[in-house]
Amino acid sequence: MTDVAVVGSANADLVVEVPRRPGGGETLIGGELRTLPGGKGANQAAAAARSGAATAFVGCVGDDGNGAFLRSRLVDAGADVSALASVEAATGTAIILLTPDGENSIVVSPGANHAFDLDAAARVSSVWEGAPVVVLSLEIPHETAFHVAEAAAAAGSRVLLNAAPSVLVGREVLQHCDPLVVNEHEALEVLGASESDPDADDYARLAQRLLAAGARSVVVTLGSEGALVAEGSAEAPEIETVPAYRVTAVDTTGAGDAFVGATAAELARGRSLREAVRFATAVSAVAVQRVGAQSSYADRAEVEEFIAARA
Ligand code: RIB
Ligand code: NA
Repeated sequence: MTDVAVVGSANADLVVEVPRRPGGGETLIGGELRTLPGGKGANQAAAAARSGAATAFVGCVGDDGNGAFLRSRLVDAGADVSALASVEAATGTAIILLTPDGENSIVVSPGANHAFDLDAAARVSSVWEGAPVVVLSLEIPHETAFHVAEAAAAAGSRVLLNAAPSVLVGREVLQHCDPLVVNEHEALEVLGASESDPDADDYARLAQRLLAAGARSVVVTLGSEGALVAEGSAEAPEIETVPAYRVTAVDTTGAGDAFVGATAAELARGRSLREAVRFATAVSAVAVQRVGAQSSYADRAEVEEFIAARA
């Protein structure tokens, strides 16, 4: 039985460390090239599986070496890949520049992820439809992601939408999100607002507006500041900020995906959203201290040790 079905992207991450971001027309010499497993969906599935949930990853890779690599790394993490299709396209690729502060700049070439259309989703609907928790992110065609959100919710799934990369999301989709997980920038985009919005720095207010826009619950991730959880009615929401653990970040790539996957795993175990977010905060704190996305995710036992050591 599947606890968590993650429907989304898989990318080979081509990572190079650079002293700083290059400017237009500039050539910089970087460090050694690393090819690491990534893609928001695959990262989330790896994190959910490592957190102990029976997890299925649903998506498309290419019929090439990177596709086989991503498939085997998901299996290593403990995810079920029977609904991961191989298609005639290049496997999705992310070009990642990593700067000394642990921050990154990413360009994604979607490749095979774009083949995950409505037909592809329908072919493997037995894996995601009605799964206890269904996780969605937006590096696959939006039409597919939004359809899966509606169909899964109609079949009784709890839907977690990570609106990343950011996009405007309508009420017909938001009404199924429990929770919607966004960072500050994505929160504005989902609302159709801009960075100059008067509430741009008021995360509680943004969360409240997302509830008013239809979301059933909202998590705003705040990086090193933690995460804000908003539940209940838009008029009188219950809001709690869960602080982040203080750690030194080496590579934040995929930290948000680790958070999403771990949150989904905890919800599938019957934890409340706040409890789930507390655990997920520890999962991402461990992940940012190591290079890579999936390759930096810890198993549940290691996360529990980390939490105990910090208590
Ligand atoms: O969220 C991090 C991920 O974004 C990377 O693994 C990269 O593949 C891009 O999709
Ligand atoms: Na990392």
